[in-house]
Amino acid sequence: MTKIRNEDLSFDEFDEIINPGPEVTGFERVVEKALSRRNFLGGGLAIGASALVLGSTALTPFSAKAASNFNFEPIPANTLDTVTVPKGYSWQVVTKWGDELWSKSAPFDHETRGTGESQELAIGDNNDGMSLFTIDGHHLLISNNEYTNRNIIYDNRESKLPETADDIRKGKAAHGVTVVEVKQDGQKWNIVKDSKYNRRITADSPMEISGPARGHDLLKTSADPSGTQSLGTWNNCGNGRTPWGTYLACEENFNGYFSSSDENYTPSDELKRYGVKNEDWGYAWATEDERFDISKNPNEPNRAGYVVEIDPSDPTSTPKKRTALGRFKHENAEVVINKDGHVVVYMGDDERGEFIYRFVSKGKFVEGSDNTNLLDDGKLYVAKFNNDQSGEWLELSPDTTGMKSQAEVCIHARIAASKVGATTMDRPEWVASHPKKAEIYCALTNNKNRGKKPNAGGDETPVTGPNPRAANLYGQIVRWRPEGENHTSNAFSWDLFVMAGNPTVHNDAYAGSKNIDAHNMFNAPDGISFDNNGKLWIQTDGKYSNKDDFAGMGNNQMLIGDTETGEIQRFLVGPKECEVTGITWSEDRKTVFVGIQHPGEKGDSTFPGGAGTAPRSAIIAVTKDDGSVIG
Ligand code: FEO
Ligand code: CA
Ligand code: CA
Repeated sequence: MTKIRNEDLSFDEFDEIINPGPEVTGFERVVEKALSRRNFLGGGLAIGASALVLGSTALTPFSAKAASNFNFEPIPANTLDTVTVPKGYSWQVVTKWGDELWSKSAPFDHETRGTGESQELAIGDNNDGMSLFTIDGHHLLISNNEYTNRNIIYDNRESKLPETADDIRKGKAAHGVTVVEVKQDGQKWNIVKDSKYNRRITADSPMEISGPARGHDLLKTSADPSGTQSLGTWNNCGNGRTPWGTYLACEENFNGYFSSSDENYTPSDELKRYGVKNEDWGYAWATEDERFDISKNPNEPNRAGYVVEIDPSDPTSTPKKRTALGRFKHENAEVVINKDGHVVVYMGDDERGEFIYRFVSKGKFVEGSDNTNLLDDGKLYVAKFNNDQSGEWLELSPDTTGMKSQAEVCIHARIAASKVGATTMDRPEWVASHPKKAEIYCALTNNKNRGKKPNAGGDETPVTGPNPRAANLYGQIVRWRPEGENHTSNAFSWDLFVMAGNPTVHNDAYAGSKNIDAHNMFNAPDGISFDNNGKLWIQTDGKYSNKDDFAGMGNNQMLIGDTETGEIQRFLVGPKECEVTGITWSEDRKTVFVGIQHPGEKGDSTFPGGAGTAPRSAIIAVTKDDGSVIG
């Protein structure tokens, strides 16, 4: 019954195969072959239906050496099975999938790759978004454990799939969030085993549902008739952090874990909009846990797809699903305190043709007071980008959508957003707020369906505005400035900071914007984050074939962008078949922690242990050899 993802396919590609968007007849693929790169560099040229709107930085010529504002020597792309950083920098592994959190934890077993019990007492798999919190002098590294590669964690099984109840237990325990105390001894960051803060949150941990959807009929299940308490969080992708000391884990592809034991079951249109089907993506959780069987618990998927707030200072605290922030395939949650104290959260919904959202709290953040429930009450908006570089936030409410309640608006945020005419985007990934001015950036990773197919809700995806390339292979980063530098204003202006591309292969729009050349090219920007100096760190989750459209790009990587000049330079290259995702700094800013996710997802890596060891997702620490501050 279960359809298994061939590991040669990305989740994006797999989702498209099993969950195809409606076909558009007569809509021809727009290919901009006519455009010369030279003309493109002049900017403002029409491509298909779209005028390219690039920021002045993307259009301003610069000389990589002479104008460089960076204090490192950029590195070339490579395809090595290791991490590469610039001269004068070093890296070390801090945590790996399966590392012990407590003395009672079993050491990672490269043969069996762990059991349910060992995994429950160890670092989760596939670390993604993360933050370092310092509480009473204790450094807590908190990271999402997004998903598992079945071919890696079940390598001990002939089928490379879960075969026993304990295999499912192991898989569920490998998901969620890990809180681990780390300590620097000399130059080396180490795990503090048995720290009172160490904690695993998994797909089975109790959660409280809060906000407008709490207790709504759509959230009630046989196990929880109150609709207020769910179990577990999974597929946590990007993250956020609040100034009141909490961590936000964002639930992304939650749909891939549900299936139906009754193959004749027909999921509702609402479930379909979120990609929930009778078949899961190979995790097989429903075989051991009825919660994941939609024919028995059709409301269970409505209890996932939220931003989950976690208080790392109290390992006994119950994480809260903040429904006011909407239910969709959350990437990260970028929290900004507006100058008047309102909490503004910017969020992307990572699927082809989905939307960018904004939450504005009703209450205000006041340092030192009780800010605990600010994310429970406020207004939810979705972005509309106009071709004249203006944009507006459209409120999602019963009034604007015709839906019955704010609870329903939040639970079916995608459907609400479609009703108000939001702009379909090229897979919104991380959002990052400039630390020194009111300017927000969002990575639009790629969208092969742009100009070809509507989104899952039937909304058209025209080649227009900040999504200016049909069949967008490479991705771009859009940015916007709220009117009056006020994040609660409903008006903004936008442009593109960069369009990724390959100028060694293409001489049209797919060559990328002016600030892309043969030396800094990349594809699929995903994780983005600002350092304290206002430099934008860009991580990629792209194609690493290093050939054809992706020739010369090498492995996935991390670059740093100067948002004033447009200059972008490569700072780090990851090992084979990894994605670089998740970034946070130590309290003294002398260490930057970087996530290396799923090295060897197709079988060609032994990072970080080397020959004969299992490939393991890891968090690495990058430091400067002279001990100075990074970023
Ligand atoms: Fe988990 Fe959109 O990346
Ligand atoms: Ca991502
Ligand atoms: Ca991605």
